[in-house]
Amino acid sequence: MEKIKRTKVVDLLKSTEYDRTVNVKGWVRTKRGNNKIAFIALNDGSVIHNIQIVVDVPGFDEEILKKITTGASVSVTGKLVKSLGKGQPVEIQAAEIEVYGTADPATYPLQKKGHSMEFLREIAHLRPRTNTFGAVLRIRHSLAFAIHKYFNDHGFFYLHTPIITGSDAEGAGEMFRVTTLDAKNPPLLENGEVNFKEDFFGKQTNLTVSGQLEAELGALALSQVYTFGPTFRAENSNTPRHLAEFWMIEPEMAFYDIHDDMDLAEDFLKYLVQYVLDHNSDDLEFLNKMFDKELIRRLQSTMETKYKRLDYTTAIGILEKSGKKFEFPVSWGVDLQAEHEKYLVEQHFKKPVILTDYPKDIKAFYMKQNDDNKTVRAMDVLFPRIGEIIGGSQREEDYDKLVRRCNEMNIPEQEMWWYIETRKYGTVPHSGFGLGFERMVLFITGMKNIRDVIPFPRTPQNAEF
Ligand code: 4AD
Ligand code: MG
Repeated sequence: MEKIKRTKVVDLLKSTEYDRTVNVKGWVRTKRGNNKIAFIALNDGSVIHNIQIVVDVPGFDEEILKKITTGASVSVTGKLVKSLGKGQPVEIQAAEIEVYGTADPATYPLQKKGHSMEFLREIAHLRPRTNTFGAVLRIRHSLAFAIHKYFNDHGFFYLHTPIITGSDAEGAGEMFRVTTLDAKNPPLLENGEVNFKEDFFGKQTNLTVSGQLEAELGALALSQVYTFGPTFRAENSNTPRHLAEFWMIEPEMAFYDIHDDMDLAEDFLKYLVQYVLDHNSDDLEFLNKMFDKELIRRLQSTMETKYKRLDYTTAIGILEKSGKKFEFPVSWGVDLQAEHEKYLVEQHFKKPVILTDYPKDIKAFYMKQNDDNKTVRAMDVLFPRIGEIIGGSQREEDYDKLVRRCNEMNIPEQEMWWYIETRKYGTVPHSGFGLGFERMVLFITGMKNIRDVIPFPRTPQNAEF
């Protein structure tokens, strides 16, 4: 038989050109039938649905058919016909089957049955082959594409900021060291400390926690830029919303104040939700049915509503008056915990909330200081089920104020000279924010744990795969 070019399942299922010979390749989800006829459900990851292969059993070598079990990889050539059965528009009448690889039913872990998310994490090398992870990974892709599209359509430039840096952008100190020094025998200074002058870069370096500081340099030249890259935090948080390696989207805009910043954040988030509603409906319907019956409704409602904007001080007042007993007691000055964010978003306002003007002592050194001398022009977007999904602010553009704040917070001025210098030459008001990519995927897919929305999660004590 002449070699026929492979067609993806997604395209075959949409096709109405019946009675032509096609080739499909993929992984067997199930095989059922009897000694006359067999039905293979084949999936190639291009779409959540399988294509049905109909096999006239007596016409095939028994040895080949025996190899076709759940998980095996095959190439099937045959006639695409309108399906008589329910549940699929078309099916393929197999004329030729080639088995690429078998999957021993005695050991292949993904047999046709429900598996716990915990178990699937242990087989992260195979879990992309499940319906759930196929759906999540396709949505993740779609979202990444939509992010680039949004910024491109809005005149932003994609700026690649470094992964290895010598600065601690957030000033939080939760960084992974990057070094080529011998851990067992590092060069020492006279006082016994490690001599980083002898390290690869001639100084201490680490994996970046944020591309913001460099994005600001870009914005102060190109007006509007964004970064979209991996960021790393060595915080020992074992929670369903923290990863040690996660992806962050950080737009940075010259001539934007905090209100412009909030407007952009809200428009951007709504665009992303709408994009996935428009382009991933099959995957969303699957997740809605299997995991979270409220999912699609929740996504639609965040599209329709205007986010509630209020300042931190007002929010603290609401929490104090709520009469709720929080595990972490509330008073002015405390950092908000997940339980507080949840209360505001899910119980009090019942919509996404943007909180502004946080106490300066719980926020980073670069945020614009308010005249009250107590708060800074921060803005965090809080989402239902997720809590903080975006953190951002207007930036301090005043040279003297920025230097003073660096000193107060022990940010080494001599390390940050390049950042501070932009306030000396042609400084302008500017703002930006960071969206946690996985938290957005978590919100959109309705999954419960951030480990299940990234292909290979990195968390404390876990860097397998
Ligand atoms: O609030 P964060 O720490 O802000 C920044 O890094 C700023 N430099 C952003 C900016 O203004 N350009 O982080 C931003 C977002 C959070 O709102 C959250 O969604 C996500 O990044 N995030 C994490 N996501 C997963 N795992 C973690 N450990 C995260 N830490 C922060
Ligand atoms: Mg934050």
